[in-house]
Amino acid sequence: MNHPEERVNALDIRGLRLHLPGAARPVLDGVDLTVAPGETVALVGESGSGKSLTSRSALGLLPPGATTGGSVLVDGEDVLTMGPDRLRALRTGRAAMVFQDPRAAVNPLRRIGDFLTEGVRRTGVLGKADADRRAAELLDAVGLGPELLRRYPGQLSGGMLQRVMIAGALMGDPVLLLADEPTTALDVTSQAEVIALLGQLRERFGTGLLFVTHDLGLAAAISDRVHVMYAGRIVESGPAEALFERPRHPYTAALLAATPRLDARPGRLAAIDGQPPDLRQDLTGCAFAARCPYATGLCHEEAPGPWPVACHHPLEGNPADD
Ligand SMILES: Nc1ncnc2c1ncn2[C@@H]1O[C@H](COP(=O)(O)OP(=O)(O)OP(=O)(O)O)[C@@H](O)[C@H]1O
Ligand SMILES: [Mg+2]
Repeated sequence: MNHPEERVNALDIRGLRLHLPGAARPVLDGVDLTVAPGETVALVGESGSGKSLTSRSALGLLPPGATTGGSVLVDGEDVLTMGPDRLRALRTGRAAMVFQDPRAAVNPLRRIGDFLTEGVRRTGVLGKADADRRAAELLDAVGLGPELLRRYPGQLSGGMLQRVMIAGALMGDPVLLLADEPTTALDVTSQAEVIALLGQLRERFGTGLLFVTHDLGLAAAISDRVHVMYAGRIVESGPAEALFERPRHPYTAALLAATPRLDARPGRLAAIDGQPPDLRQDLTGCAFAARCPYATGLCHEEAPGPWPVACHHPLEGNPADD
């Protein structure tokens, strides 16, 4: 039975497995992740950990030849079983994505106004007059004037263009906004503005936000909850503050140590030693064991359970008897 007062999650990923042709093991291996309406959740991890594949799965954007297991529910509906028409409607309606490089996401020959309205008009979500009105409203919401509707992408700075992208993502009134490294291509000032803007919009429109970043500091600044991903698995999840102050997975701790802090001296950025495991190799045991200072024989033999910390020897409160 459906209870009308019960709010469905904006995003509900359960046991998502994704296998790519030629890989020896799943590139996503049992990912569980939820985003409630109006909630901001960050997905953090090194390059290649599977963050983009996870967030793109919410739009049904899978690499060619990918096979999947588990489910990816957006607003209660499984994206993995949707046909092409439903997917198209989803992408201009209930879910939308803001990408890393706004320049790469627009046609430089189309005016901003056309870019904003074409998706919802093509799928019939809005008629022309309503689409134009909403485009002007949303430009205003992202702090830009209506004169921009007639401009071309080349006439805008990167920061302005990313605001336009965010306005575009909100055109279909989505329950879920996916932002994949949305500030990486921007200068520091625009980065801060875009982060602040995403926070405001989330409150104003009640949109659930999945924020993908390799920067744990940024994740903590913007999100309610953080999921840390390593080699296609979520290794630790929790409130941003707790993760920041008391990381329990050695990988989270290493990631934190590699995060530049405001009070850090320049040149103090540490990298995590070693490399994530290659997809062409099968894995036994913990995927982080080869790089982990705390790894024991057990870690090399047996994969740790997933929740709340996928580690045989979590930090802090680590019982002396293990
Ligand atoms: N279209 C694809 N075809 C083949 N392999 C892919 C494809 N997309 C991603 N992969 C592989 O899947 C793994 C995870 O990729 P993904 O893009 O999700 O990582 P990411 O965490 O977003 O990294 P980054 O921080 O660099 O963006 C990587 O090993 C990558 O090489
Ligand atoms: Mg990525």
